[in-house]
Amino acid sequence: MRSTKTYHVRAQMQADYDVVCADNILDPASEELVNRGRRPGNHDQRRFVVLDRAVDEFYGNSIRAYFEQHHVECRYLVMPGGEQRKVMDSVLAVAEALDDFGIDRRREPVISIGGGVLLDLVGVATALYRRGLPHVRVPTTLISLVDAAIGAKTGVNHGVHKNRLGTFQTPTAVLLDRRFLATLDERHVRNGVAEIVKLAIVRDERLFELLEEDGDRLVEEKLQGRSPAGERVATELVHHSVQGMLAELAPNLWENNLYRLVDFGHSVGPTIEMLAGGDLLHGETVAIDMALFTTVAARRGLIEDKDARRILELLHRFSLPTDHALLDDDVLRRAMADTVRHRDGMQRLPVPVGVGKAAFLNDVTQDELRSALRHNRAEAVS
Ligand SMILES: NC(=O)c1ccc[n+]([C@@H]2O[C@H](COP(=O)([O-])OP(=O)(O)OC[C@H]3O[C@@H](n4cnc5c(N)ncnc54)[C@H](O)[C@@H]3O)[C@@H](O)[C@H]2O)c1
Repeated sequence: MRSTKTYHVRAQMQADYDVVCADNILDPASEELVNRGRRPGNHDQRRFVVLDRAVDEFYGNSIRAYFEQHHVECRYLVMPGGEQRKVMDSVLAVAEALDDFGIDRRREPVISIGGGVLLDLVGVATALYRRGLPHVRVPTTLISLVDAAIGAKTGVNHGVHKNRLGTFQTPTAVLLDRRFLATLDERHVRNGVAEIVKLAIVRDERLFELLEEDGDRLVEEKLQGRSPAGERVATELVHHSVQGMLAELAPNLWENNLYRLVDFGHSVGPTIEMLAGGDLLHGETVAIDMALFTTVAARRGLIEDKDARRILELLHRFSLPTDHALLDDDVLRRAMADTVRHRDGMQRLPVPVGVGKAAFLNDVTQDELRSALRHNRAEAVS
C-alpha cells in the first residue's frame, strides 16, 4: 500500500525600505550615510564600502573624510564601472573582499556608491553572501538614481544574455543625492533621461511636458540647479520619476504580474545591448526599443500620429538613438523569442496609446516589426 502526505509551506517575504532624496550626503553634518542601516544600540563603527572607480576619483577624498569625521573604520573596494564588468567574476571579487574584511552581517551594512553596474553587481554579491547582507545603495548616475537603485532587482550578465544571473534584494535604504551627477558626462545624462522618457510615455504626461519644456536645461545643468528655474525643474523631474517608478514597482515588487508598464523599452533592447558589446548604453537601447514599438502602435492606429511624432521628436531632441544597424530580421526574431520566454509564453508588450498612457499587446507579428523598423528608417533619412 502506498501513502502520500503533503506538508504545505506558505511564507511571505516583506519589503520595507526607504528611498530618501537627500542633498549633499557627503557634508560632514549629514548623518544619512553613516546612520542608515545602523541598528539601535550598535556602536560598532565599521563599514565595507564599494566605490565605482570614477566615483573614487571624483569623490574619494570627500567620502574618506566623511567617514573619518564620523569615526567609522572603513574598508574600501574600488571597482571599474561599465557593462563589461557586470559579470560574475566581479561578484566573486566582492565576496572575497568581504571574507577578508570579516564582515559582521547583522550589524555592518555594505554601502555601495556608484552607477547601475556597481549597484547591480554589489546587489548580487550582498544578496548571495551568507544569504543576505544589509545593503545601502547610493546611485551616482542618472539612470541608477531613477531606476537601478530604487527597485528590488539585481543582476549580472552571463554568456550572451543580459542580467541572466540575479536575485531580488530589498535594500536597507537608498540615498538619492543628485549632486553626484555633476561629474557625469553628457552622454550618461542622456542615457538616464531615456528611462525618464519611458516613464513619461507610459504613465505621466506632466513629466513628458517637463522634458519637452526644460529638457535642454536639465541636460546642460546636469540636474544641478545652476539657476533657480533649473533647480525647480530638476527637483520636480526627480520627484515625478522616482515617485512614478516606485508606484509601478512597489505593488509588484516580486514581479508576479508580468504585465509591467516599466518593461516598455525592454523588449528587444536587452538583446541589442548585448550584441552591441559596449557600443550602446542601456538607456540608448531603451530608446531604440521605444521608437520601434511606438511606431508599431501608430501603424495599428492605437496612438495618434501626432502623439507618436511627439515621442520620436523627444527622443531625437535628447540625441537618443531610434535605430541601430544591428536591428535586422533575425535579431528581432531572436529578441522577441527571448522576451516571450521570459514573459511566460506571451508577448505582454507595453505600447503607448497616447502620451502618458499605454496598453499591452500580445499579437505583434514579425511583419509588423519589420515594417515599423523600415518606417523609422525611412523617416530618419527624409
Ligand atoms: N536593477 C535594475 O532594476 C536596473 C534598472 C535600470 C538599469 N539597470 C542597469 O544599470 C546599468 C547601467 O547603469 P549606468 O549607466 O549607471 O552604468 P555604469 O554603472 O557603468 O556607469 C556609467 C559610467 O559612469 C561612471 N560614473 C558613475 N558615477 C559617476 C559620476 N558620479 N561621475 C562620473 N562618472 C560616473 C562609471 O564609472 C561608468 O563609467 C545597466 O547594466 C542596466 O542593466 C538596472
